Amino acid sequence: MTTLRPPQNFRTARTTLRPVTRGDAAAIFNGYANSPSATRYMVWPRSTAPAVDGVAERSEQSWASGHAFPWAVVLQSTREFIGVIELRLNPPKADLGYIFCEPFWGRGLASEVVSCVVEWAFA
Ligand SMILES: CC(C)(COP(=O)(O)OP(=O)(O)OC[C@H]1O[C@@H](n2cnc3c(N)ncnc32)[C@H](O)[C@@H]1OP(=O)(O)O)[C@@H](O)C(=O)NCCC(=O)NCCS
Repeated sequence: MTTLRPPQNFRTARTTLRPVTRGDAAAIFNGYANSPSATRYMVWPRSTAPAVDGVAERSEQSWASGHAFPWAVVLQSTREFIGVIELRLNPPKADLGYIFCEPFWGRGLASEVVSCVVEWAFA
C-alpha cells in the first residue's frame, strides 16, 4: 500500500484511459473475461457469469483503496472499450497487468498504452 496515486486519466495517440468502474462489467465479460484465448495465461480463471465474478467491482474497489489502479482503455476513434491495464505500486517497485479484447490485438495498442503508464511510473 502506498500514498502515491497515478492520474485517473491518460491520453495516448489512439486511446484514452480512465478508471475501470462497475459499469464496465459487461464490456469486460464480453470483451475478454469470457474468452478462452484472452484468459489462457491469466492467473485467474475464465469467467462464465459476469454478475458472480465481480471483476469490475473489484477494480472499482482497488481505486478506492489505492492498492492497484486499473484503467479501462478506450479507442478514441470509436469510443470502444478495448481492454484494461492495471498498475500496482509498491515503491520502489511497480508491476503491470494488461489484457485486451482479441479483435484489438496486433496493432501495437498494448505497447502504446504500457509505454504511457510506465513513463508516468518512472517519473
Ligand atoms: C498481451 C496483449 C495485451 C498484447 O496486446 P497487443 O495490443 O496485441 O500488443 P502489441 O500489438 O502492442 O504487441 C506488443 C509486442 O508483443 C508481442 N506480442 C503480442 N501478443 C503476444 C503473444 N501472445 N505472445 C508473444 N508475443 C506477443 C507483439 O508481437 C509485439 O512485439 P514486437 O513489438 O516485437 O512486434 C494481448 O495479446 C492480450 O490481451 N493477451 C491476453 C492477456 C495476456 O496474456 N496479458 C499479458 C499478461 S498480464
